[in-house]
Amino acid sequence: MAGRKTIVFSLILSLMAAANAVPFDFYYLILMWPGAYCEDSDNGCCVPKYGYPAEDFFVDDFQTFNVSINKPITRCNGSPFDANKLDPIENSINHYWSNIKCPPTDGVNSWKSAWNSYGVCSGLKQLDYFKAALNLRKQADVLGALAAQGIEPDYKLYSTEMIRWAVSQKLGVTPGLQCKDGPFGKKQLYQVYLCVDTDAKTFIECPKMPKLSCPDAVVFHPFYTWMLNATAAAAFDSRILLPTETALN
Ligand SMILES: *[C@@H]1O[C@H](CO)[C@@H](O)[C@H](O)[C@H]1NC(C)=O
Ligand SMILES: *[C@@H]1O[C@H](CO)[C@@H](O)[C@H](O)[C@H]1NC(C)=O
Repeated sequence: MAGRKTIVFSLILSLMAAANAVPFDFYYLILMWPGAYCEDSDNGCCVPKYGYPAEDFFVDDFQTFNVSINKPITRCNGSPFDANKLDPIENSINHYWSNIKCPPTDGVNSWKSAWNSYGVCSGLKQLDYFKAALNLRKQADVLGALAAQGIEPDYKLYSTEMIRWAVSQKLGVTPGLQCKDGPFGKKQLYQVYLCVDTDAKTFIECPKMPKLSCPDAVVFHPFYTWMLNATAAAAFDSRILLPTETALN
């Protein structure tokens, strides 16, 4: 009898634990503009080992954040990263969650680090965590939202207020903007922070914005895949993919 009670009791405990599985309040979806990275990086930017990325904003990170402690929640218990589980979204993750660091990388380390830090805290399966971030990036279509208001990566200076407004026109929520050193002593648009509900689907107004900084006017630097150094990658792999925009799965 006592044994059965114990079983029922531990079942209740584990159900409670499951209901409570996400120790966070919302996600930060952090998108980055590769043109700014290339411009500001001392080592330039390189074609990743698997081939060319998209000429668009990339996912930089997808963080689980806890408002009450005002910190990202990291390194929960969860299954270890398994790169093979990303096979179904290989094309899309290669193009839109790309790592253009030099020397060239295969991207796996950035995905592994995102999963081990935040993904394991999300309560999602590994594939679903990455799919969610990639879908949100696509849904946000920041490049399209900016273009709709005449804001293009054409090296011109744009008002940060206009950039925020353009994104909010499309998404109904206000983004955070982070800048990087740019040409001629100006700052340039580098990252866009968007907040997402724990459902990993819905953009929300940020309950808390990290300390980000951009001056009133910023350069929107161009990005073309020809800016990426391909010499370094060719040494690794001769099967470099061609740039493509038809990379959605
Ligand atoms: C945030 O962290 C605190 C302290 O670890 C925890 O008590 C709280 O339950 C967390 N918030 C959520 C939504 O889980
Ligand atoms: C491209 O990469 C190669 C190999 O790492 C390096 O020797 C070369 O200087 C780089 N080119 C540019 C333009 O940075």
